[in-house]
Amino acid sequence: MVEYFTKDHWNVLLSGNCRAELLNKNVDDLYQLTNIDKPYNGDIHSASEDEKKFVVNDLQQYISAAHDSHLTSQNMLTPIKDILATLNKKQEATQTVQINSKEYMSGKKSHEVEKMSSVVDILAQHCNTHQVLDIGSGKGYLSTHLSLKYGMKVTAIDCNDDNTTGASQRAEKFLSYWRKHLNGRHTKESGAAAAVINNDSLKLESVTAYVAASTDPSKFLPQSCEHNIEDACIVTGLHTCGDLCSTVISMFVTNKLIKGLCVVGCCYHLISESNNETGTFPMSDFLATKSFSLGRNKRMLALKAPERHAVMNPKQQREKSERSLFYRAVLSVILKEKYGLKSDSKDACIGKIFSKSHSFLDYIRRSLNKLRLDSSLLSDEEIDNYLQSYEPRFKELVAFSMIRHQYGPAVESIIVLDKYLYLLEQVKNTGIEKCFIGEVFDPILSPRCFALIASKSIT
Ligand SMILES: C[S@@+](CC[C@H](N)C(=O)[O-])C[C@H]1O[C@@H](n2cnc3c(N)ncnc32)[C@H](O)[C@@H]1O
Repeated sequence: MVEYFTKDHWNVLLSGNCRAELLNKNVDDLYQLTNIDKPYNGDIHSASEDEKKFVVNDLQQYISAAHDSHLTSQNMLTPIKDILATLNKKQEATQTVQINSKEYMSGKKSHEVEKMSSVVDILAQHCNTHQVLDIGSGKGYLSTHLSLKYGMKVTAIDCNDDNTTGASQRAEKFLSYWRKHLNGRHTKESGAAAAVINNDSLKLESVTAYVAASTDPSKFLPQSCEHNIEDACIVTGLHTCGDLCSTVISMFVTNKLIKGLCVVGCCYHLISESNNETGTFPMSDFLATKSFSLGRNKRMLALKAPERHAVMNPKQQREKSERSLFYRAVLSVILKEKYGLKSDSKDACIGKIFSKSHSFLDYIRRSLNKLRLDSSLLSDEEIDNYLQSYEPRFKELVAFSMIRHQYGPAVESIIVLDKYLYLLEQVKNTGIEKCFIGEVFDPILSPRCFALIASKSIT
């Protein structure tokens, strides 16, 4: 969107009829384009009969194609309840203590941790182990929950020391909270947590380490482990950012000790692609042999969740984000015309200036300062003239951005399917016996919601 005006995306990338159709919608209707459950039914007011057919098909085709490329439309997902049923043939639920995780984490995190830990628990039982490596454990919410609620032996690994130190302290706090909770209200409750309380210790260890695909997981397992089949482990990662998701998958594939995998990726913009030597995308031979690449812009787009945008974004927040795109696109025009800077230049990175600015003038002045450009080359009046001359095109920009958002989920599908395909390609050599993609979270609450879940045969 930074290059929206400088490269004239509106006129170059959309047909005239498409443009007319979009401009006939009010902004709220444009947002409904993003509602993937109700693909857009275009109605046109200004085109001829012949044109109408073409234009409606054009926009609809685009939106339907984007909709069809979404993982949820491709029959590639296995419902979580079916995954759990396949893994848990005995249909035995682990006895756990009922506890409200919202009391010690945010609503979103609590949702993620509750959902993910119930899958990890069943996966661990299926793989005959209680030992879990939580990679990229961050503040340790998932690790703590697995340990306290399900009585698992968890090693929480994160490369950020502040996180791991904080995680251990937080875990002790949760433990005393649980103790009070059990003593006060649920003295007769049995299950994993009670056992933890009786032992008076958490089966949780926090380790600060940078994990790479070649990292030997056995060094994270308790010393007493002989690393025979009973001491096997499973590996998990909640919102493993950028390359970490592929790293966790590679560890699962290459290491015999790791019998199960449950991982959810995030921060796709941080993924490195294989045109760079250490790149982790694509993972599958299928895409690698095609020299397939996405590029940062498309990976950024994959982070947009149209369904969330349409349902949750309060109007005020929405308008702010539209305004921010608009200011940035006009800034590119100024940088190009007044300072000869290309809009895609790395030197034109301004960070989060919009949220600090109280007007367009202030935004431009702050941006020029940040870029160390001579602000005196531009008068206040000239800056205002730029704003006035682009203001009439604001709605176009909003419409274009909505159209662009449609393809975010398609890009996310490619990223997730590539990892799934890689796992399927490894089945022969690694003993992988089950492999699924499951929508483990509610996408409205937690848009990065696709988990790769796999297990190896236990022999
Ligand atoms: C998006 S955060 C998720 C944290 C946590 N799992 C959660 O959901 O709250 C990703 C975490 O992975 C850690 N991380 C990223 N790359 C890593 C690596 N190669 N080895 C270990 N930790 C890593 C980061 O420090 C960060 O805490």
